[in-house]
Amino acid sequence: MNANIDLSHVSLQTERLYIRPWKIEDLEDFYAYASIDGVGQMAGWNPHTSIDESRRILDSFIADKKEFALELQENRKVIGSLGLEELYTDIGEPYTRLKGREIGYVLSMDYWGNGLMPEAVSRVVQFCFEEEKLDFLQCSHSVENIQSQRVIEKCGFKFVKELMRRGINGVEHMSRFYVLNNAYIVA
Ligand SMILES: CC(C)(COP(=O)(O)OP(=O)(O)OC[C@H]1O[C@@H](n2cnc3c(N)ncnc32)[C@H](O)[C@@H]1OP(=O)(O)O)[C@@H](O)C(=O)NCCC(=O)NCCS
Repeated sequence: MNANIDLSHVSLQTERLYIRPWKIEDLEDFYAYASIDGVGQMAGWNPHTSIDESRRILDSFIADKKEFALELQENRKVIGSLGLEELYTDIGEPYTRLKGREIGYVLSMDYWGNGLMPEAVSRVVQFCFEEEKLDFLQCSHSVENIQSQRVIEKCGFKFVKELMRRGINGVEHMSRFYVLNNAYIVA
């Protein structure tokens, strides 16, 4: 089942990143990476076609309180997002009775391949298990998205099942679902 989440006052740090709530001042950085072709599609949404579209989505990030901005310490730019989304699918017992969320993420194409997302995901996993006391986390990627598969594997998630998944842009992909248990759960 879905854990209750409110990230509006949560700020975390890694070696290279500040992981913190979104602010309206992040709009230009958000539009800069969300409007690039080939980024959002891998996560099930289409590139933003106007700054107004980015503003609407940024407003929903702030209102929903389940989305982190990823700010690069080096230049103070927001270069991605990481959300604790509602679970897309029930992966059966014992998870039906336990508290979990699905991690979703996107990184600006300019920064791919430097291990930044595994760094962010690992820190958020630690936060979810040690501070929020979630029982488990899920992750998923479309079967074509090897980049995301590598992030999930590097962060220690275990494969559970394949299922067709419809993105918010309406496009369906065969997707692979994974789980990571908080240490006290016996798998
Ligand atoms: C998935 C994503 C977040 C990975 O973030 P990242 O910080 O680049 O992750 P890593 O540096 O660990 O790289 C992961 C894999 O991407 C691949 N990769 C590395 N550099 C790359 C580049 N410049 N272009 C394409 N793929 C690249 C490699 O396979 C790498 O795996 P490896 O470390 O085993 O070689 C990023 O590619 C992204 O934002 N993609 C678009 C959105 C998306 O797919 N979101 C997830 C939806 S499920």
